[in-house]
Amino acid sequence: MPSVYIKTYGCQMNERDSEAVAAQLVAKGYTLAPSEVGADVILLNTCSVRDFAEQKAIGKMQNLAADVRKNRPNVVLGFMGCMAQSRGQELIDRLPDVDLVLGTQKFHRAADCLDEILAGRRDKIVDVAEEQGSEATIREHLLYGNASKNGGGHRPPLQVTAFVSIMQGCNQYCTFCIVPYTRGEERSRSIPDIVGECRQLVSQGVKEITLLGQIVTSYGRRRASEAAVAGRARSPSEPVENLEVRRRDEDIAPYQIKDGRSAFVQLLNAVHEIDGLERIRFTSPHPKGYGDDLIEAYARLPKLVESAHLPVQSGSDRVLKLMHRGYTRERYAGIIEKLRRARPGIGITTDIIVGFPGETEDDFEQTLTLAREVQFDNAYIFKYSQRRDTPAAAMPDQVPQLIREERNQRLLEVINEIGKRKYSALVGRQAQILVEGPSKKNPARMTGRTRCNKIVVFDGADRHRGQLMDVKITRAGSFTLYGDPAIVNL
Ligand code: 5AD
Repeated sequence: MPSVYIKTYGCQMNERDSEAVAAQLVAKGYTLAPSEVGADVILLNTCSVRDFAEQKAIGKMQNLAADVRKNRPNVVLGFMGCMAQSRGQELIDRLPDVDLVLGTQKFHRAADCLDEILAGRRDKIVDVAEEQGSEATIREHLLYGNASKNGGGHRPPLQVTAFVSIMQGCNQYCTFCIVPYTRGEERSRSIPDIVGECRQLVSQGVKEITLLGQIVTSYGRRRASEAAVAGRARSPSEPVENLEVRRRDEDIAPYQIKDGRSAFVQLLNAVHEIDGLERIRFTSPHPKGYGDDLIEAYARLPKLVESAHLPVQSGSDRVLKLMHRGYTRERYAGIIEKLRRARPGIGITTDIIVGFPGETEDDFEQTLTLAREVQFDNAYIFKYSQRRDTPAAAMPDQVPQLIREERNQRLLEVINEIGKRKYSALVGRQAQILVEGPSKKNPARMTGRTRCNKIVVFDGADRHRGQLMDVKITRAGSFTLYGDPAIVNL
């Protein structure tokens, strides 16, 4: 059977989609190639969030195409995911060696498409149509890699942590963001469907589950059927103000608020009940949806780990408004304060954009002061990138590239300084880690994560994989901790 290599760009949702495609292909008899060299099919699962991510994937495909044309004319080349969705046929027009362009609602069709192309029944396939129910199609996992479970005896699966996709799409329409156009309207899977998948994973040895969605705090407010009825995607030129009115009209909640708890918290409760599951994480929430019921869930559900990734984007109220984020700096800081009260020591990470159109030096300094005030454990900093058809791309006062870079550097210094202090403060302390596997940098060592989502590297062996282990933190590196299990597990 043909071998397939999938290269993934971008976020955890993309990683999850690639895993589901790989699992689907393995189930159909394809094998997974360890690299592009020698693979019969090469798929790039793409990201559109910034231009840089798109250019990287396009550059990669150009190189692959040149090599394939010269040396291996029968190799099948494909784009999947967000850029495939937003650019469609345009990708083949530009890169005629590409055979397949598969959008974000069509991952489950990957094997069928490849079968057709490999059998010569179809030359090229572009499938970027919307598909009702597609949010429930990302469900296959690849816990044992290429090998079958039975071949593995009683060994734990290669993956003791798993991502579970709970919803697709986003209706928030932040003015900088392309995601509503690449991932579509919010569509949620049902609670029993998600819990069933989680149970299955736990029965196969998974200890930690991360619930995934583009905006998980909106989970369950609309189900696929309602989204399909609502139907119309907002046109990029439609003013944001119209949206508030329209969303209220259409906001038919399939999961009613129960005992003051939102659909997302109801889902957390249900997943929490699974015996054998040790840890629950989720990403990404939106501060707007971070209600007291969710804060209370942190205090009430011990499997919900002390970790929150809560994208803030800016510390300036003026910029937050231009971004259409729907909260103020004060409200954001208030959520963090409550979270810390519910779970002292909780690890807080964030996403920040620098150089959003109209961001002044004063606005940027407010982001710096917010970073100092909140004391993030880590932050992903993004230089603003103009995205096609998004409202911010047409805003006046685009910030010059040099200033974006300079602000990126200044913020990075603040984030690194805070991170260093926070990580160093953990030296000498004890922490529980879930051992995930060999360290990427040094495969002779093992790595795990603390409940606060910090990576810990230690001298261990493969038999530790999947274990919850107490370690003493002996040293802190750059956003990495080093630990010693022997000291606490004598
Ligand atoms: N430019 C720069 N960063 C962006 N992000 C989303 N859109 C853009 C853009 N146009 C960042 C946000 C988001 C993260 C996943 O990517 O910070 O939280």
